[in-house]
Amino acid sequence: MIVRIFDTPEETAAALARRVARALAEKPTLVLGLPTGQTPVATYAELRRLHAAGEADFARATSFNLDEFAGLPPSHPGSFRMFMERHLFQGINLPPAQIHFLDGTAPDLDAECERYEAAIGTSGGIDLLLAGIGANGHIGFNEPGDALAARTHRVQLAASTRRSNAALFRDDPSDVPTEALSMGIGTILKAGAIVLVAKGAHKAACIERAVRGPVTTHLPASLLQLHRHVELYLDSAAARLLRPR
Ligand code: PGA
Repeated sequence: MIVRIFDTPEETAAALARRVARALAEKPTLVLGLPTGQTPVATYAELRRLHAAGEADFARATSFNLDEFAGLPPSHPGSFRMFMERHLFQGINLPPAQIHFLDGTAPDLDAECERYEAAIGTSGGIDLLLAGIGANGHIGFNEPGDALAARTHRVQLAASTRRSNAALFRDDPSDVPTEALSMGIGTILKAGAIVLVAKGAHKAACIERAVRGPVTTHLPASLLQLHRHVELYLDSAAARLLRPR
Protein backbone atom coordinates (compact mmCIF):
# COMPACT_ATOMS: atom_id res chain seq x y z
CA MET A 1 0.00 0.00 0.00
CA ILE A 2 1.17 3.51 -0.80
CA VAL A 3 0.65 5.63 2.32
CA ARG A 4 0.49 9.41 1.99
CA ILE A 5 0.32 11.41 5.20
CA PHE A 6 -0.61 15.09 5.34
CA ASP A 7 -0.47 17.50 8.28
CA THR A 8 -4.12 18.52 8.15
CA PRO A 9 -7.46 17.24 6.83
CA GLU A 10 -7.52 20.23 4.44
CA GLU A 11 -4.17 19.28 2.89
CA THR A 12 -5.35 15.67 2.61
CA ALA A 13 -8.49 16.75 0.77
CA ALA A 14 -6.60 19.11 -1.56
CA ALA A 15 -4.06 16.43 -2.46
CA LEU A 16 -6.77 13.84 -3.11
CA ALA A 17 -8.73 16.25 -5.30
CA ARG A 18 -5.57 16.94 -7.32
CA ARG A 19 -5.05 13.16 -7.60
CA VAL A 20 -8.56 12.81 -9.10
CA ALA A 21 -8.05 15.79 -11.43
CA ARG A 22 -4.77 14.26 -12.68
CA ALA A 23 -6.51 10.95 -13.35
CA LEU A 24 -9.23 12.78 -15.31
CA ALA A 25 -6.63 14.65 -17.36
CA GLU A 26 -4.88 11.36 -18.18
CA LYS A 27 -8.13 9.54 -18.99
CA PRO A 28 -11.12 11.83 -19.68
CA THR A 29 -13.45 8.78 -19.78
CA LEU A 30 -12.44 7.84 -16.23
CA VAL A 31 -14.89 5.60 -14.35
CA LEU A 32 -14.98 6.66 -10.71
CA GLY A 33 -16.23 4.86 -7.61
CA LEU A 34 -17.42 7.47 -5.12
CA PRO A 35 -18.08 7.41 -1.35
CA THR A 36 -20.27 9.45 0.95
CA GLY A 37 -19.63 10.36 4.60
CA GLN A 38 -18.05 13.33 6.33
CA THR A 39 -14.54 12.51 5.14
CA PRO A 40 -14.98 13.16 1.39
CA VAL A 41 -16.93 16.43 1.88
CA ALA A 42 -13.77 18.57 1.78
CA THR A 43 -12.39 16.60 -1.18
CA TYR A 44 -15.62 17.18 -3.09
CA ALA A 45 -15.51 20.91 -2.26
CA GLU A 46 -11.97 21.02 -3.60
CA LEU A 47 -13.03 19.15 -6.77
CA ARG A 48 -15.80 21.72 -7.31
CA ARG A 49 -13.19 24.46 -6.92
CA LEU A 50 -10.82 22.75 -9.38
CA HIS A 51 -13.70 22.33 -11.83
CA ALA A 52 -14.60 26.03 -11.56
CA ALA A 53 -10.95 26.87 -12.19
CA GLY A 54 -10.97 24.76 -15.36
CA GLU A 55 -8.73 22.10 -13.84
CA ALA A 56 -11.14 19.15 -13.55
CA ASP A 57 -13.38 18.21 -16.48
CA PHE A 58 -15.95 15.48 -15.80
CA ALA A 59 -17.79 15.78 -19.16
CA ARG A 60 -16.79 12.30 -20.34
CA ALA A 61 -16.37 10.66 -16.92
CA THR A 62 -18.72 8.14 -15.30
CA SER A 63 -19.44 7.58 -11.61
CA PHE A 64 -20.76 4.73 -9.50
CA ASN A 65 -21.50 5.46 -5.85
CA LEU A 66 -20.53 2.74 -3.41
CA ASP A 67 -23.81 2.42 -1.56
CA GLU A 68 -27.28 3.75 -0.83
CA PHE A 69 -29.92 3.33 1.86
CA ALA A 70 -32.80 0.94 1.18
CA GLY A 71 -36.30 2.39 1.19
CA LEU A 72 -35.38 6.01 0.47
CA PRO A 73 -36.26 7.67 -2.83
CA PRO A 74 -33.31 9.47 -4.45
CA SER A 75 -34.98 12.82 -3.63
CA HIS A 76 -35.08 12.09 0.13
CA PRO A 77 -32.83 14.61 1.95
CA GLY A 78 -31.12 11.71 3.79
CA SER A 79 -30.32 9.71 0.66
CA PHE A 80 -26.73 9.40 -0.50
CA ARG A 81 -27.91 10.55 -3.91
CA MET A 82 -28.95 13.90 -2.40
CA PHE A 83 -25.70 14.04 -0.44
CA MET A 84 -23.77 13.71 -3.71
CA GLU A 85 -25.94 16.34 -5.42
CA ARG A 86 -25.27 18.81 -2.59
CA HIS A 87 -21.57 18.17 -2.18
CA LEU A 88 -20.35 17.32 -5.68
CA PHE A 89 -22.68 16.85 -8.63
CA GLN A 90 -24.25 20.33 -8.50
CA GLY A 91 -20.81 21.90 -8.78
CA ILE A 92 -19.24 19.86 -11.57
CA ASN A 93 -20.09 18.92 -15.16
CA LEU A 94 -20.66 15.18 -14.78
CA PRO A 95 -23.65 14.52 -17.09
CA PRO A 96 -26.62 13.02 -15.16
CA ALA A 97 -26.77 10.07 -17.59
CA GLN A 98 -23.22 9.15 -16.53
CA ILE A 99 -24.04 9.17 -12.80
CA HIS A 100 -24.91 5.70 -11.49
CA PHE A 101 -26.60 4.98 -8.20
CA LEU A 102 -28.15 2.01 -6.49
CA ASP A 103 -31.92 2.54 -6.25
CA GLY A 104 -33.03 1.76 -2.69
CA THR A 105 -36.68 1.87 -3.76
CA ALA A 106 -36.38 -0.73 -6.56
CA PRO A 107 -39.20 -3.31 -6.21
CA ASP A 108 -36.70 -6.19 -6.23
CA LEU A 109 -33.56 -5.15 -4.34
CA ASP A 110 -31.61 -8.30 -5.25
CA ALA A 111 -32.30 -7.65 -8.94
CA GLU A 112 -31.26 -4.03 -8.41
CA CYS A 113 -27.90 -5.23 -7.06
CA GLU A 114 -27.42 -7.44 -10.13
CA ARG A 115 -28.36 -4.52 -12.41
CA TYR A 116 -25.63 -2.43 -10.73
CA GLU A 117 -22.97 -5.11 -11.14
CA ALA A 118 -23.90 -5.40 -14.81
CA ALA A 119 -23.80 -1.61 -15.28
CA ILE A 120 -20.31 -1.46 -13.79
CA GLY A 121 -19.26 -4.21 -16.20
CA THR A 122 -20.79 -2.42 -19.18
CA SER A 123 -18.91 0.76 -18.28
CA GLY A 124 -15.66 -1.16 -18.63
CA GLY A 125 -15.07 -1.35 -14.87
CA ILE A 126 -14.13 1.22 -12.24
CA ASP A 127 -10.74 2.84 -12.87
CA LEU A 128 -10.36 4.78 -9.65
CA LEU A 129 -12.40 4.02 -6.55
CA LEU A 130 -12.36 6.40 -3.60
CA ALA A 131 -13.46 5.01 -0.24
CA GLY A 132 -13.76 6.13 3.33
CA ILE A 133 -13.40 3.79 6.26
CA GLY A 134 -15.98 3.40 9.01
CA ALA A 135 -14.86 3.64 12.61
CA ASN A 136 -15.62 -0.11 12.69
CA GLY A 137 -13.44 -0.77 9.63
CA HIS A 138 -16.23 -1.01 7.09
CA ILE A 139 -15.72 -0.11 3.42
CA GLY A 140 -18.83 1.02 1.58
CA PHE A 141 -21.49 -0.65 3.72
CA ASN A 142 -19.55 -3.89 4.03
CA GLU A 143 -19.87 -4.30 7.78
CA PRO A 144 -17.50 -6.43 9.91
CA GLY A 145 -18.72 -9.99 10.50
CA ASP A 146 -17.94 -13.66 10.04
CA ALA A 147 -18.39 -13.39 6.27
CA LEU A 148 -18.35 -10.76 3.53
CA ALA A 149 -20.25 -10.64 0.25
CA ALA A 150 -18.22 -10.37 -2.93
CA ARG A 151 -20.89 -8.79 -5.11
CA THR A 152 -23.26 -5.85 -4.72
CA HIS A 153 -25.79 -6.92 -2.10
CA ARG A 154 -28.30 -5.94 0.59
CA VAL A 155 -26.88 -5.24 4.06
CA GLN A 156 -28.24 -4.79 7.55
CA LEU A 157 -26.53 -1.72 8.97
CA ALA A 158 -24.58 -1.94 12.23
CA ALA A 159 -25.93 0.21 15.08
CA SER A 160 -22.69 2.21 15.06
CA THR A 161 -23.07 2.88 11.32
CA ARG A 162 -26.64 4.09 11.81
CA ARG A 163 -25.45 6.40 14.61
CA SER A 164 -22.65 7.81 12.46
CA ASN A 165 -25.13 8.58 9.65
CA ALA A 166 -27.67 10.26 11.94
CA ALA A 167 -26.59 13.74 10.81
CA LEU A 168 -28.41 13.06 7.51
CA PHE A 169 -31.59 12.35 9.51
CA ARG A 170 -31.87 15.37 11.81
CA ASP A 171 -29.50 13.64 14.27
CA ASP A 172 -31.99 10.88 15.05
CA PRO A 173 -30.34 7.44 14.59
CA SER A 174 -33.76 5.76 14.77
CA ASP A 175 -34.67 7.50 11.49
CA VAL A 176 -31.63 6.02 9.71
CA PRO A 177 -32.76 3.08 7.55
CA THR A 178 -31.81 -0.34 8.91
CA GLU A 179 -31.00 -1.72 5.49
CA ALA A 180 -28.84 -0.58 2.59
CA LEU A 181 -27.40 -1.71 -0.72
CA SER A 182 -23.65 -1.78 -1.15
CA MET A 183 -20.99 -2.77 -3.62
CA GLY A 184 -19.40 -5.97 -2.36
CA ILE A 185 -15.78 -6.32 -1.36
CA GLY A 186 -15.13 -8.18 -4.63
CA THR A 187 -16.75 -5.33 -6.60
CA ILE A 188 -14.45 -2.87 -4.82
CA LEU A 189 -11.33 -5.03 -5.29
CA LYS A 190 -11.96 -5.18 -9.06
CA ALA A 191 -11.29 -1.41 -9.38
CA GLY A 192 -8.05 -0.52 -11.16
CA ALA A 193 -6.87 1.63 -8.26
CA ILE A 194 -8.35 2.20 -4.81
CA VAL A 195 -7.76 5.31 -2.71
CA LEU A 196 -8.77 5.07 0.93
CA VAL A 197 -9.10 8.41 2.67
CA ALA A 198 -9.32 8.91 6.43
CA LYS A 199 -9.01 11.75 8.88
CA GLY A 200 -9.13 12.00 12.64
CA ALA A 201 -7.74 10.14 15.63
CA HIS A 202 -10.85 7.95 15.90
CA LYS A 203 -9.81 6.25 12.63
CA ALA A 204 -6.19 5.61 13.66
CA ALA A 205 -6.67 2.15 15.19
CA CYS A 206 -8.64 0.85 12.19
CA ILE A 207 -6.10 2.29 9.76
CA GLU A 208 -3.24 0.62 11.63
CA ARG A 209 -5.06 -2.73 11.65
CA ALA A 210 -6.08 -2.37 7.98
CA VAL A 211 -2.46 -1.75 6.93
CA ARG A 212 -0.50 -3.94 9.35
CA GLY A 213 -2.95 -6.43 10.81
CA PRO A 214 -4.24 -9.76 9.54
CA VAL A 215 -6.63 -9.86 6.60
CA THR A 216 -9.98 -10.52 8.27
CA THR A 217 -13.68 -10.19 7.53
CA HIS A 218 -13.93 -8.60 10.99
CA LEU A 219 -12.12 -5.57 9.54
CA PRO A 220 -13.34 -5.29 5.93
CA ALA A 221 -10.74 -2.60 5.11
CA SER A 222 -7.99 -5.17 5.74
CA LEU A 223 -9.12 -6.97 2.55
CA LEU A 224 -7.57 -4.06 0.64
CA GLN A 225 -4.20 -5.66 1.40
CA LEU A 226 -5.10 -8.14 -1.37
CA HIS A 227 -5.29 -5.41 -4.04
CA ARG A 228 -2.28 -4.52 -6.16
CA HIS A 229 -2.79 -0.75 -6.16
CA VAL A 230 -4.09 0.87 -2.99
CA GLU A 231 -3.22 4.40 -1.88
CA LEU A 232 -4.02 5.75 1.57
CA TYR A 233 -4.57 9.50 1.95
CA LEU A 234 -4.40 10.19 5.68
CA ASP A 235 -4.20 13.21 7.89
CA SER A 236 -1.60 12.99 10.65
CA ALA A 237 -4.24 12.09 13.28
CA ALA A 238 -5.52 9.08 11.31
CA ALA A 239 -1.92 8.03 10.57
CA ARG A 240 -0.81 8.39 14.20
CA LEU A 241 -0.26 4.66 14.76
CA LEU A 242 1.56 4.14 11.45
CA ARG A 243 4.55 6.24 12.43
CA PRO A 244 7.77 4.19 12.69
CA ARG A 245 7.95 2.72 16.17
P1 PGA B 1 -17.17 9.21 7.64
O1 PGA B 1 -17.68 7.78 7.14
O2 PGA B 1 -16.39 9.78 6.51
O3 PGA B 1 -18.43 9.95 7.92
O4 PGA B 1 -16.34 8.96 8.85
C1 PGA B 1 -16.77 6.95 6.50
C2 PGA B 1 -17.44 5.64 6.18
O5 PGA B 1 -18.31 5.21 6.95
O6 PGA B 1 -17.09 5.06 5.15
